[in-house]
Amino acid sequence: MRVLELFSGLGGWRQALRSRGTVVAAYDVSEAANATYALNHGDQPKARELATVPLAEVAAQEADTWLMSPPCQPFCRMGSHEGLDDRRSRAFRHLMDLFEEAPPDQLVLENVDGFLGSDAHALLSERIRAEGMHQLDLQACPSRFGLPNRRPRVFIVASRKPLDPRPQPDLAPRLLADFLDAEEDHSLYLGPEILDRHYLGLDLVEPGDRRSACFIGGYGRRFVGSGSFLKTEQGIRRFSPAEVARLLGLPEGFRFPETLSLEARYRLLGNSLSIPVAAWALDHL
Ligand SMILES: C[S@@+](CC[C@H](N)C(=O)[O-])C[C@H]1O[C@@H](n2cnc3c(N)ncnc32)[C@H](O)[C@@H]1O
Repeated sequence: MRVLELFSGLGGWRQALRSRGTVVAAYDVSEAANATYALNHGDQPKARELATVPLAEVAAQEADTWLMSPPCQPFCRMGSHEGLDDRRSRAFRHLMDLFEEAPPDQLVLENVDGFLGSDAHALLSERIRAEGMHQLDLQACPSRFGLPNRRPRVFIVASRKPLDPRPQPDLAPRLLADFLDAEEDHSLYLGPEILDRHYLGLDLVEPGDRRSACFIGGYGRRFVGSGSFLKTEQGIRRFSPAEVARLLGLPEGFRFPETLSLEARYRLLGNSLSIPVAAWALDHL
């Protein structure tokens, strides 16, 4: 596969791709995402607005596969529900125009469950159908892949070749304890003021549990509905970015630029992919 990684973030698709193919170009507007991507993969993504990227530039990459995770806010339970009308879908709409002009041979799109049945889903399916490509709409969650984390997601997989359906694994989630840092960062503990205000809304888990909630980009700022918090003998703390990265299946060597704030690290992780689940979606190609 010669891959265009669109909305590349910290490079979750590239992590999942491994030896299945080569990323010929990655695109993301975020400086923090691109610095993290470059640190981990050695290549610098193109800091380009995808809503205006010219057809000639995309065609020049000679990619046969598009892997993409467009912004999910237009389709999120807590988002705008505006789908294609949301300004954050502008880049997706433009990419659908490019698809008409220069379609890839294969495509995998990842998004939240709310993408299914949306106008964007209908538009993508129309483009795929017009090319006579095969399509599978998959729904999967890492909690079935042995990871103690929920992150239900949709994968639209399309190819000119017939697709290879793969049953979703049904592995028991491991203990959260296996994903914790050897040494705790005490600054992650929540102070009494925060506990007073948010305690009742916190999703609390313990090291002996086999589950955690989906960590979203706002985990560094929000307490309720943003992910789980760990209860230990010392109190209640956030999961560290390294712990969230392990729960997403990122490799142990995954790093952030030193200067990146805690908040920015959580934002990138919350926007990223569960790597084993994305790898399973790629196996359908
Ligand atoms: C859902 S995240 C994708 C994360 C990625 N799959 C990963 O593994 O980290 C969406 C990404 O798209 C980028 N993005 C959003 N709108 C964009 C646009 N119009 N042009 C280029 N990048 C955009 C954001 O900066 C963000 O990193």
